[in-house]
Amino acid sequence: MRHSLALCLLAAAILAPRPAPAADVLPGDVGAGRELADRWCTACHVTEGLSKGTDAAPTFRFIANRKDRTAGEMEAWLVDPHPVMPDLKLSRTQIDDLIAYIESLKDE
Ligand code: HEC
Repeated sequence: MRHSLALCLLAAAILAPRPAPAADVLPGDVGAGRELADRWCTACHVTEGLSKGTDAAPTFRFIANRKDRTAGEMEAWLVDPHPVMPDLKLSRTQIDDLIAYIESLKDE
């Protein structure tokens, strides 16, 4: 029974019409994302404000401005990063916040 309820919810989630995601309706919190990034990502990435980081990893501003990379793909990356970048075992909320922060660095 539990199982079929889960399937039902899954189907509903897939079938429900979704509005096209716009940059300003991302679920995450930009401020929280910035704090996470300053704490966990600056060992490698240059983030806004802090000039730590290395050039082994792309800056977040660069990532944000890449035309071929959507927020959805960034999310997939953070859920399952590939080697070189460590898997930081981020929670959904942390990922949403980090994506909101990175997207906020986009130059309009
Ligand atoms: C140990 C170094 C290291 C740390 C720590 C790290 N990264 Fe990375 N990250 C990398 C490297 C290197 C790449 C480039 C990988 C590639 O292109 O193959 C990368 C790529 C990325 C990308 C782009 C992936 C793509 O190609 O689309 C995102 C987004 C990203 N990192 C986010 C983060 C976030 C958010 C954090 C902190 C929670 C973080 N990274 C912490 C090294 C790191």
